[in-house]
Amino acid sequence: MYRGNAELLGLFSIDETAWGNVDAEAKEELEMAASEDSEEAIDHGILVANLGLRLSEELGFDNNFCSEIAKAGIVHDIGKLQISSLLYGRKEGVLRIEEIKYVRRHPTLGYNYLKEKNIGTEDFRNIILHHHENYDGSGYPDNIKGDLIPVGSRILRICDVYAALVSERPYRAAFDKNASMELMIDEVKNFDMNFFLAFMRIVHADSFKDIDDYIKRCNSKVHVKSKRKL
Ligand SMILES: [Fe+2]
Repeated sequence: MYRGNAELLGLFSIDETAWGNVDAEAKEELEMAASEDSEEAIDHGILVANLGLRLSEELGFDNNFCSEIAKAGIVHDIGKLQISSLLYGRKEGVLRIEEIKYVRRHPTLGYNYLKEKNIGTEDFRNIILHHHENYDGSGYPDNIKGDLIPVGSRILRICDVYAALVSERPYRAAFDKNASMELMIDEVKNFDMNFFLAFMRIVHADSFKDIDDYIKRCNSKVHVKSKRKL
């Protein structure tokens, strides 16, 4: 089934030698999109929404903006819904580079979907469109950098990466809080530094305990670990 869809999409240049150069985040995006686990996707959206709300409050934005960020956190990966059915059931080791290119279309697909349904303002949709842009310009879909990236996207970028790292996945264990922050410091070029410093403050504050508890509850769900191939 997958190959048929790939043919339709014209995704046929295989370059397995390039697989070694693909970063861990891209591989993770692919695994997540292919797993088609809606409960995991919903848990992730709720976590990103809560982190986004907390970070935008810490940065001093008004209530209206903070609630826009929370809503954007819930739907930021909505474009993946359109691609997971194409990736599900794929054969491991086949077309992986092309699959990643396809997964990387999810911000654009999400933006288009919201626009088609007339959901949110253009500013809101642009947050979704640019949630994988990196501060140094190495992200996607438009390789924009620095302050050209919408503020909301810069907030979600940080929250999205943290949410992914601290979450148990069928294909890898969760990283704890300190390990996650260290991994993010290694990749700090991807983030708005002022926003990242604010994020470090909220993560280590006592008031973060409710989010820590939410993460623990999600990670303890039986279905998440039972699928892991160890
Ligand atoms: Fe995403």
